[in-house]
Amino acid sequence: MSDSIVPSPEASPHPSFRSPAANTSVSASPSGLIRCEAVDVFYGDFRAVTDVNLSFGKNEITALIGPSGCGKSTLLRSLNRMNDLVDGARVEGRILFQDDDIYAKNVDPIEVRRRIGMVFQKPNPFPKSIYDNIAYGPRVTAMKVSSMDDLVEEALTKAALWDEVKDKLKQSAFGLSGGQQQRLCIARTIATQPDVILMDEPCSALDPIATMRIEDLMHDLRRDYTIIIVTHNMQQAARVADRTAFFTALADETSGDRTGVLVEYAPTAEIFEHPKDQRTEDYISGRFG
Ligand SMILES: Nc1ncnc2c1ncn2[C@@H]1O[C@H](COP(=O)(O)OP(=O)(O)O)[C@@H](O)[C@H]1O
Ligand SMILES: [Mg+2]
Repeated sequence: MSDSIVPSPEASPHPSFRSPAANTSVSASPSGLIRCEAVDVFYGDFRAVTDVNLSFGKNEITALIGPSGCGKSTLLRSLNRMNDLVDGARVEGRILFQDDDIYAKNVDPIEVRRRIGMVFQKPNPFPKSIYDNIAYGPRVTAMKVSSMDDLVEEALTKAALWDEVKDKLKQSAFGLSGGQQQRLCIARTIATQPDVILMDEPCSALDPIATMRIEDLMHDLRRDYTIIIVTHNMQQAARVADRTAFFTALADETSGDRTGVLVEYAPTAEIFEHPKDQRTEDYISGRFG
């Protein structure tokens, strides 16, 4: 399988829609696996996210935090073209994955979503057996698989679920607990061999013990994958993330609508111990949001 999401290198002129804006001061590492350059995300005329410049490091866990409605989910969904499925949603600026513009005309969004997988807030297993949940992605994408049994075992092992389900692979995924279902969804994502796993508040429907298991799992997964997690739980960000990006919502000068902006992005300890921006300080100390 080709390493690039772009079918042929000649066909990829990397059109630049606009030059990167200079008004967001972030310590974006230029070597990031995914890079946002002056990203705006719209729903129709409403600009939900404005001018995000951000670079996600390979094999790092990055947390996106900030008050409700500041555009965390919107930005996350734009990183693997999940917003394409939302009516009226539109991205401006550039989002690069391994230096390829994921919104370029010749890029296949299905391939983007395979390479950059997603796990949602509420565990959403398919109404199928545990085995078939994992085998589904490889089957529909016609992945070349020498042994589906081995692939299923490997994905479930990586998601720290194998020991709990190995004797009931043919049973419905709905028989699993919430925490097990969420690990199944992670295994399902892993099964198609992504590079990046996006997680949108993956623990918010889980109890503390199930949450801890997912957090431990994230630490293990980080060896093989790049993880970007939205969380409203600041302790969780502090526990799992290498870097943290704090967003807030500002009133747009012209329309008065509130739009999400990136305030500060730094190694997690810096964000929580020495935030540079007063708004970050206010948020992490619980003064708003
Ligand atoms: N499908 C949608 N259509 C229109 N507006 C949306 C849609 N999804 C989110 N929004 C709006 O975009 C803004 C950001 O939402 P969201 O990304 O869900 O924020 P967060 O995840 O930080 O809580 C909010 O004002 C929200 O109402
Ligand atoms: Mg959200």
